[in-house]
Formats: sequence, structure tokens, C-alpha cells
Amino acid sequence: MTDLSLDVPTPPEADDGVWLACIECGNAVAPFDDVVYRCPDCDSLLEARYDEYPDWSEFEGRGVWRYSAALPFESGVSIEEGDTPLYTVPGIEDDLGLADLRVKHEGLNPTGSFKDRGMTLGVKVADELGVDRLACASTGNTSAALACYGTRAGKQVLVLLPAGKVAAGKVAQASLHGAKICEVDGNFDDCLDVVAELADRGEAYLLNSLNPFRLEGQKTIGLEILEQSKAATGEYPDRIALPVGNAGNTAALYKCFRELVAAGAMDEDEMPKLTGVQAAGAAPMVEAVENDWAEVQPWGEVETRATAIRIGNPVNAPKALPGIRATGGTAVAVEDDEITAAQRALAGEGVGVEPASAASIAGVRKLREAGEIDADEQVVCLTTGHLLKDPDAAAAAGSEPVPVPADADGVLDAI
Ligand code: F0G
Repeated sequence: MTDLSLDVPTPPEADDGVWLACIECGNAVAPFDDVVYRCPDCDSLLEARYDEYPDWSEFEGRGVWRYSAALPFESGVSIEEGDTPLYTVPGIEDDLGLADLRVKHEGLNPTGSFKDRGMTLGVKVADELGVDRLACASTGNTSAALACYGTRAGKQVLVLLPAGKVAAGKVAQASLHGAKICEVDGNFDDCLDVVAELADRGEAYLLNSLNPFRLEGQKTIGLEILEQSKAATGEYPDRIALPVGNAGNTAALYKCFRELVAAGAMDEDEMPKLTGVQAAGAAPMVEAVENDWAEVQPWGEVETRATAIRIGNPVNAPKALPGIRATGGTAVAVEDDEITAAQRALAGEGVGVEPASAASIAGVRKLREAGEIDADEQVVCLTTGHLLKDPDAAAAAGSEPVPVPADADGVLDAI
């Protein structure tokens, strides 16, 4: 039985008030003695736990490390990640007939995606453990962030990418930041299987979101959304919609809310409804939510233009499904054309995102049209990656350049 309760006594395995707990059998594991990703007893997911959870008064400074009181360390391998804007999008808000719609643009992190929040902490933990080689499987953004933070920490970085299915900007980042890039003949899920085996053999330290410390960094997205929403509107949002691949962010946001409740900083009924959005061609989480299944059934074949979320086996589903259910949220699948339409709509408001990010807006539109989101709701959509991550998708969704002669009349004739 999955147990995500934080109300447990501090075990002897805790190191300075921090330990890892198995979400299925409750086993406690020392966090920094040995490299560990899953429960040594039952192989289930681990989650970081603390002897105390901070309230709002304990946060100071800016960015991810503003929230160090909620993290295992005071500082990390940092290039000033976090503190991303919460934009209004009045045109889309009007069009959808919503009381309040905002966009948390994680594309404005140093490497252009939310992954930086997980890496600033994950690479710090790697340093603490004394490992030399860091590795991940990736649909692109994780590899870009790991390459960047890994090189900053002086580590070797190995990334496994599904051949031909990663957007150009992401490969360019991993390449220039000096990662060893292996293009695997398989999809993301195959890449993750291979890199997990390399990690189990002790050949590399795994920094996919299976690593519980990645999610600790990512939970700061939730803390920022709540603080920014409160400052802007006086309220926490009713709903947070986000694209889902491995369901790491969904799990991280739910953990953020649980910790605030444990700290007495938020009431349980104030938790925003977690609303996961997947591409129709890669929607195992949506299938599990719609059918009220206890577990996700992995999809072997996946396809979508939103390559970042082209994932059939969301590893964090056991942490994320309870979050969607406990907050009264839901999950919805959107077609690629709906994603592109949402990408254009966001671009029309000055917010440039990659296709996967636009899925959050496309999903809210779909649920609003189906009457599942009320007009009086205050909604935040998470946009996870920058437009320039996938220049080909952006160019395809945008307008064609027109050739003109080098004179003003020629330009005026053409417009
Ligand atoms: N949006 C973007 C832009 C992503 O890159 C990812 C995941 C997601 C959403 C899904 O987030 O896994 O927390 O549900 N990208 C990973 C990668 C898989 O390798 O870059 P999730």
C-alpha cells in the first residue's frame, strides 16, 4: 500500500534530520552513506523525508535556494535557477472564460527548462556522495541540464537519447556543455532501462527523476507558484495544470503541498487540483486516471510532436497518481494539433514555449470546454521549456519567411 504520510518519527538512519523512505514498505534508508535510488528491500520508489517541515517565514533570498529550509542542503551547484515569472495571459484567459489564468514559465531557467531546479540539488548530492560520472536517459531537457550542471561541478556526464527523437536545441546544449551523447536505437523508456542498469552496476550516478533528490529541487516550483499567486491575487490557485511525461513534477508538486500541510502552512483543502496533461499518443497516466486504475499500465509504443513527453512508462506514477486523486484533480489527453494551437496562442501573448509546455494550456482548454473546469477558477499552467529548445517545431508552427530584394519598396510590396 502506498503510504505518503509525512507524520512519522525520525528513524536512526536520518542524517542531520534527512532520510529516504520507501513509499510502499516504509523502510528508512540513510541518504548519503551509499548510492541508492530504490528501496533495497522491495525495489519501490524512495522519497526524501525531514524531521521538520518549514513554514513560509523560513524562506529568504531568491531562486531555488530561497527554499533551502525545505531542502537537504543550504546551497547547491548553482547557476541561479528558479525565480521564474508567473505571467498573466489575458487573451487566453478571456478566450477560455476563466476568472484568472496565469503561466509559470519554467523555460526561463538557465538551461531553458525546469530541470535546472532538480539538477542544482541532484548534482550537489552527487558531489556529497563522491561520484565522478553522472548519467541520465532523456527526451532532451534533462540531458541539457545535467550536462550544464555536471560540467560546472567538474564531473563527467553521459546522456542516453532516443535516436532521432530529441529536439535540436537540447542536443546542442548537451553537446556544447561537454556531455558524452549516446543515441540509442529505442525510445526514452529503453534509454532509461539501459542507464538504470549502468547505475546498478556502479558505472554512473543516475540523475533521472527516479532519483528522489531531483524531485526535492523541483518541488520549489510549487513553493514559487503559491507565493507568487498569493502576492498577485491574494489566493492560492484552485488548479495547477502541467504536462506529464515521467510524472516527476506532478509528484514533486504534491510533495510540496503535503509538506506545507505538515508544517501547518496550508490547509489540506487549499491544495490546488493537480491536473496532468499528456499527448494523446503517449497517455498512460490519463488512461489510469480515467479508468480509476491503482497503477499505470505502460505503453510500449508512443508518438507525439511534443517529444519531451514522448514517454510510455511514467516512473513516478506511484507518487503522482495519489496526488492527482487527493487534490481532486484529473488528467486529460490532447492531440498534437491542439498542442500546436496552444503553442501559437501562448506565442501570441509573448510567451514562447516548446510543444510539451503548451500541452498544459491545451489541456485546460479541453477541460474548460467539457465543463470540467469552472469559470470562477484561478488556474496556473506550468510551461516547462523554452521555445528555442525545439526550433523546428517553432518554425513549423509559425509563419514562413518571405524572400525580398534589398530595397524598401520590395519589402513594402511583400507585406
Ligand atoms: N515538459 C518538458 C519540456 C519536459 O522536458 C518534460 C520531461 C516534461 C514536461 C515532463 O515532466 O517527467 O516531470 O512529467 N522531460 C524529461 C527529459 C523526460 O528527459 O528531459 P515529468
